[in-house]
This record gives sequence, structure tokens and C-alpha cells, in this order.
Amino acid sequence: MNNKYFLPLSSIFVIALAIFYIELFVEDFVVVVPLKKSWEKAVPHQEVPNGLVSLKAKDCGACHVNHYEEWKKSTHSQAWTDMQFQAELKKESSPFLCINCHIPLQNQQEYKVTGLEFGDIYKPVKEKNLHFDPELQSEGITCASCHVRNNTIIGPTGSQLAPHPVVKDNFHLSENLCISCHNATAVVTPTLACSFETGDEWKNGPYYGKKNCLSCHMPETHRSIVAGMPERKSRFHSFPASGIPKSPNHHPERLESLEFKTSKVKSVYKQNDSLNFVITLINAHAGHRVPSGNPERFIITNIWIKDENGKIIKTQENRIGEHWEWHPVAAKISDNNLNPGESRSYNFSTMLHQKGKYNIEIQVSKHRLTPESAKYNKLGKEYPLSFIAWEKTIPFKVK
Ligand code: HEC
Ligand code: HEC
Ligand code: HEC
Ligand code: HEC
Ligand code: HEC
Repeated sequence: MNNKYFLPLSSIFVIALAIFYIELFVEDFVVVVPLKKSWEKAVPHQEVPNGLVSLKAKDCGACHVNHYEEWKKSTHSQAWTDMQFQAELKKESSPFLCINCHIPLQNQQEYKVTGLEFGDIYKPVKEKNLHFDPELQSEGITCASCHVRNNTIIGPTGSQLAPHPVVKDNFHLSENLCISCHNATAVVTPTLACSFETGDEWKNGPYYGKKNCLSCHMPETHRSIVAGMPERKSRFHSFPASGIPKSPNHHPERLESLEFKTSKVKSVYKQNDSLNFVITLINAHAGHRVPSGNPERFIITNIWIKDENGKIIKTQENRIGEHWEWHPVAAKISDNNLNPGESRSYNFSTMLHQKGKYNIEIQVSKHRLTPESAKYNKLGKEYPLSFIAWEKTIPFKVK
């Protein structure tokens, strides 16, 4: 046996001790990867601008009464309290970054996230936020989320009439601000994908360069923005769109994207005639696809033929929306959303065997999510799932 392969007892002890220390060190050793994507970060802490008592919408509303009343109707004001959002946030699969577009200011967040352990989005490095304001959190996307940066109010004109500092920044207060939240595609984990592309849909569509997010969702008006001040250009702040409420007490405004056309129906048919009928949906007013945003949204067109007692003789249902498969990996299976300007026609035909009086009833409804998804998220009946966008009844007789 060769002697050089033998170690004295003392060196074995030294090596064992070294290994022990290396292990201790490795256990505590964490590589903290800085946050990269914009939505991984909160908007840095904001001090209350001079001349104001707080950042809360309620307090801005003491002077900007109309803006406050309009904003309360908006979905932005529900972005934190939304029952579906809260249900999803509680799931282990939801990473910390979910909150950055729903309560974007650091002041609204309980923790400060400084980085990710080994770049893992499920291992944020957190510390308690000493300036956390729970009431501001409950306001979701509030006035300060869009208007306060560098401890100052950002405005479209830089008005000198305000009791608070104002900095004019039309680049920030433009579609760029909207798109910073309304466009995200990322595969977070194999079974969790973020996919809403309202910004890209708009950029690739016919409205780009003509009308932007503000033109349609913040229409212009002329009014005083604080009682007693001269009238000026202003924009409505209720952010109308789908019109599907978030709770029984929420009353959002609806902005209709679709126009509807129905083909002619005779008032009298003969027994054994066939009834042929076409309904057309046109995306005439949205600057992006419809539905847009959350991939779970869809539009249902129902056609019913009912006899004079209301008994259903024939039905047809058509759906516009996306279909996703979430397991084993998130993948889009189909998508027949309407592009801006696009039309979709549905043919309906039936034989008329029985004499009598009938109605064709048509109903177009806009849906946030399916009853199955709502149940899966343990959302009760108080969570509104849909909204009737259009209805029409056409009577006819069979002689
Ligand atoms: C004490 C009353 C008061 C309060 C509170 C107040 N403002 Fe103002 N604000 C004004 C007045 C007055 C003006 C100037 C009106 C004008 O230009 O016609 C103004 C102007 C503005 C403008 C327009 C600036 C521009 O560039 O044209 C914005 C935006 C604004 N305020 C946002 C806010 C926000 C957000 C809050 C809450 C964090 C707030 N204000 C709180 C009185 C107030
Ligand atoms: C900080 C992120 C953020 C910014 C900035 C933002 N939004 Fe939103 N927006 C949201 C979130 C989140 C919701 C949905 C809240 C919910 O459903 O609970 C929403 C909802 C909406 C809705 C309602 C959609 C519906 O279902 O009816 C409209 C319209 C809208 N935003 C338009 C805009 C426009 C226009 C701008 C730019 C002026 C803008 N948003 C800026 C995050 C943002
Ligand atoms: C989602 C972002 C967003 C939110 C939330 C928001 N605003 Fe605005 N606000 C804007 C944009 C964008 C403009 C600039 C419009 C322009 O360029 O004409 C604006 C303009 C204003 C103006 C200038 C006058 C006018 O009407 O155009 C005032 C005042 C104002 N906002 C107050 C408020 C108050 C008060 C709240 C909360 C109750 C609020 N805003 C919430 C985006 C927002
Ligand atoms: C030409 C007008 C127009 C423009 C430009 C426009 N929108 Fe819309 N948007 C609409 C209409 C109309 C609806 C209502 C869809 C419906 O029928 O429910 C809508 C719906 C939405 C919705 C809800 C989507 C849904 O299916 O429920 C969001 C979110 C939204 N818009 C955000 C934006 C953003 C962000 C921009 C800018 C990138 C933008 N919009 C540009 C007209 C417009
Ligand atoms: C990049 C910004 C952004 C991030 C990050 C984000 N959201 Fe949202 N979220 C939005 C916007 C914008 C809307 C509203 C309109 C839409 O559907 O496009 C929204 C709407 C929602 C809604 C309401 C859907 C509906 O149809 O009314 C829920 C629930 C939601 N988000 C949950 C989450 C969860 C859970 C996460 C984390 C996995 C998350 N969000 C991360 C921007 C974001």
C-alpha cells in the first residue's frame, strides 16, 4: 500500500470541520436577484405633496368632487377589493407580483420587496413597510396611483391655480400609463400564464394614431375641476367599459363596442315553411379586440323561438371568446375574439310545423367568467358574472 494515500488523524479532523463550516455557510447563502420587469416593482414610496392632508381619493375628492364620484363608479376603484382578485391572491400559485398592477404604490403595500431569492418569484425578499396605509390599499387604482410621482401631483397642464404642487407630464398621463398595466404576457409558472394584450391589440389595429385609450375611456368635457374655478378641458374619470359590476353596490358605466343587425323576418309564414334568419355582431366601437384583456371573458348570443305560452321550440347559442387549457401546462386552444371592425354572423333556420303565434327572442350577454370558474374560486351568488348587452324580440305568425 502506498503511504501517500493515508492522511494523519488530525488532518481528517480538520477537513471534517471545514466541511461542517462550508455547509453552514451554504445554508445561509442566498443569491438575491434584483427585480427586473416593471410589474415586479411597486411605484416607490410617495410623501404627501405639500398643501394636502393625504393621498387618499376621499381627500382629493374634497376639492375634485366630480372626479371622485366618477372614479368610485370605475372598476379601478375595485381593483383590490374585487372578490375574484382576493380569492385568486390567496392561492399559493399566485406570486407576490400580482399586487403591483392592482395596488401599484408602495404606500398601498404591506411589505417592501427588495429582490428574489435565487430569482424565484415565489421567494420574494420582504421587509415590513413602515409607511403602509391600509385605507389607501383598499382604494385599488386610486388618484395617487396615476397622479403622484416624486412626491408631486402630475397633471396635463401644470396648472398654477392648485394649492398643491403640479408638474406637467403628458407622456406619463397618456396611453403609456394605461399600457403599463393593460398589456402583459408572461408564463409565470407552467400552469399560470398572464395573457392580456389590450395595448398590442390597439397598436396593431385601425385606431392607432387616431384614437387612444383616453379618447374612448376618458372622454373629454369642459367643466371646472374644482368648484368656483374657471371651466377648462377635463376628462371623465368613470372608465366605462364592460359594465359588469364587481359587487352588488358597484355601478360601473357601460361602453358598448358592438352594433347588431338582424335580417328581415316576415310577419306571417305558412305551415311547413322554413324560417331563415341571420344576426350579425360588429365590433364597431372598441379600439381593440372584443372581448379584450382577461382571457376568461366571453360573449354569448342566444336565439330562442318561443310559442305564445313562452315554451321554447328551438334554441341556438354561439360564443365569442378564448378557450384555455390550464393543465398540465397553460395553453390557448382557441380564440375567436372580434378584431376592431370585424363582423360575425350567425345563421339560424328552423321548419315551422305548427300554426300559432311565435316570438324570436335574441339576447347578447357579456360574461366575466363561467359559473364553474366562479365556483372553483368559491365566489358566491353576490358576485355578478354577466351583463345583458342587447335584447330584441321579433313576433311572427304561422298560418
Ligand atoms: C384643497 C383643494 C384640493 C385638493 C385637496 C386637491 N386638489 Fe388638485 N387641484 C386643486 C385646484 C384648485 C386645482 C387647479 C384647478 C384648475 O387648474 O382649474 C387642482 C388641479 C389638479 C390637477 C390638474 C393639474 C393640471 O396640470 O392641470 C390634478 C391632476 C389634481 N389637481 C389632482 C389632485 C389629486 C390627485 C389630489 C389628491 C391627492 C388633489 N388634486 C387634491 C385643488 C385641490
Ligand atoms: C396600475 C395599473 C393600471 C393602470 C395604470 C391603468 N389600469 Fe385600467 N385597470 C387595471 C386593473 C387591475 C383593472 C381591473 C380591476 C378589476 O377588475 O378588479 C382595470 C380596469 C380597467 C377598465 C375596466 C374594464 C372592464 O372590465 O370594464 C378600463 C376601461 C380601464 N381599466 C382603462 C384604463 C385606462 C384608459 C387607463 C389609462 C388612463 C388605465 N386603465 C390605467 C389596471 C390599471
Ligand atoms: C387610471 C389612471 C387615473 C386615475 C385612477 C385617476 N386619474 Fe385623473 N387623470 C388621468 C389622466 C390620464 C388624466 C389626463 C387627461 C389629459 O391628458 O387630458 C387625468 C386628469 C385629471 C385631472 C385634470 C383635469 C381633467 O379632468 O382632465 C384631474 C383634476 C384629475 N385627473 C383628478 C383625479 C382624481 C381626483 C382622481 C381620483 C378620484 C383621479 N384623477 C384618478 C388618469 C387617472
Ligand atoms: C375606439 C375606442 C376605444 C379605444 C381606442 C380603446 N378602447 Fe377599450 N373599450 C372600448 C369599448 C367600446 C369597450 C367595451 C367592450 C364591450 O363591449 O364590453 C372597451 C373595453 C375595454 C376593456 C374591457 C375589455 C372587456 O372585454 O371587457 C378594457 C380593459 C379596455 N377597453 C382598455 C383599453 C385600453 C388600455 C386602451 C388603450 C390601449 C383602450 N381600451 C382603447 C373602446 C375603446
Ligand atoms: C401587468 C399588470 C397586472 C398584473 C401583474 C396582474 N394583473 Fe390582474 N388585472 C390587470 C388588468 C389590466 C386587469 C383588468 C382588465 C383585463 O381583464 O385586462 C386585471 C384584472 C384582474 C382580475 C379581474 C378579472 C375580470 O375579468 O374582471 C383578476 C381576478 C385579476 N386581475 C387577478 C390577478 C392575479 C391573481 C394576478 C397575479 C397572478 C394579477 N391579476 C396580476 C393587470 C394585472
